[in-house]
Amino acid sequence: MNIPFYKPDITEDDIQEVVNTLRSGWITTGGKTAQLERELARFCSTEKAVCLSSQTAAAELTLRLLGIGQGDEVIVPAYTYTATCSVVCHVGATPVLVDCADDSPEMDLDKLEKAITHRTKCIIPVDIAGKMCDYKSILEAVKAKSAWFLPKNELQKAFGRIIIMADAAHSLGAFRSGEKSGQAADFTTFSFHAVKNLTTAEGGAVTWRKNPALDSEKIYRQYKLFSLHGQDKDALEKSRSNCWEYDVTAPYYKCNMTDMQAALGVSQLRRYEATLEKRRSMIENFNKAFKSLPVQLIKHKGRGQMSSGHLYMTKLSNGSRDKVIAALAEDGIRCNVHYKPLPLLTAYKKMGFAAEDYPIAVQHYNSELTLPLYSTMTLEEQEYLVEKFKKCF
Ligand SMILES: Cc1ncc(COP(=O)(O)O)c(C=O)c1O
Repeated sequence: MNIPFYKPDITEDDIQEVVNTLRSGWITTGGKTAQLERELARFCSTEKAVCLSSQTAAAELTLRLLGIGQGDEVIVPAYTYTATCSVVCHVGATPVLVDCADDSPEMDLDKLEKAITHRTKCIIPVDIAGKMCDYKSILEAVKAKSAWFLPKNELQKAFGRIIIMADAAHSLGAFRSGEKSGQAADFTTFSFHAVKNLTTAEGGAVTWRKNPALDSEKIYRQYKLFSLHGQDKDALEKSRSNCWEYDVTAPYYKCNMTDMQAALGVSQLRRYEATLEKRRSMIENFNKAFKSLPVQLIKHKGRGQMSSGHLYMTKLSNGSRDKVIAALAEDGIRCNVHYKPLPLLTAYKKMGFAAEDYPIAVQHYNSELTLPLYSTMTLEEQEYLVEKFKKCF
């Protein structure tokens, strides 16, 4: 039997929704994108959402919206995917990497507090595997250091403290301490890439936390300008009768979502609760099956919190990880490793980051193995995976 690491969950309804959009005569940003934005905002209990071409675009535009650039520092975990950090480089700011906590892939809060300087403008926690970070504690930590914050523009002044932008590429549908992913951080950026729980093939979105100092309409319009060349009318508006004329407010970027992608998102979101339920029950079954193995399993639920069940991460002991990956590959099972810490990658070594400064991230990486998990995995495939994984021990 072959079990890939991931299979997208595409139903006939998803296909029909995309086909309807293809036949509608409008395939780029328009009504479907606006519909997905409204429905996502409702799902996340936020005022608004903006759909874009990727999480990377959503994060980069958020840094630009906040006016973060040269001379500023942005704190990111050493243990994440490069996209979390590359956007900091794209805007010309300086990334500051923080090591993990001993018992979790999240950033260590003490180390995070120590990394804050007068130049810190933003922190990007990552909801690895779909488990939300402790945003309440991070917010408390930055509030306690608000006297250190030197705002450079009106928006930064409105916050009056370091801004928290969640990398929620994995966590749509998660909740923690009464808040959903999308509501907890000042800004939250989602990915709808092909391997994510909810996909638009490629795509992403951003939401923001309600804040009386912020004008949500203005922020929404600014994201739209940023994502479409700074044009003050999108293609749909321009296509209306006698509306051809437009202005360009600044030479901005091009990272809008198309209606074709949004159609897939609308259909996926309609049944997303059921998708989450399937993933969560599969995780429960795996947890039960692997209880007696010498393997540490990442917790997907706890007091007042539930992850989106995006990844089934495990930690193995005594340098056995690579042998287990090879043995499962022999049985046709494809695994993955999350994540090779940034200081182990050439790009970040060249910037001067060194693995020895992030020992916990390296330790997590050395023992981590992620098993396949997708919502269309059949019972037979699940049983096969359980049998073969157990056999490794
Ligand atoms: C933790 C994390 N952040 C960001 C991204 C980037 O998402 P996108 O491909 O939508 O830009 C990914 C993608 O895999 C990710 O895993």
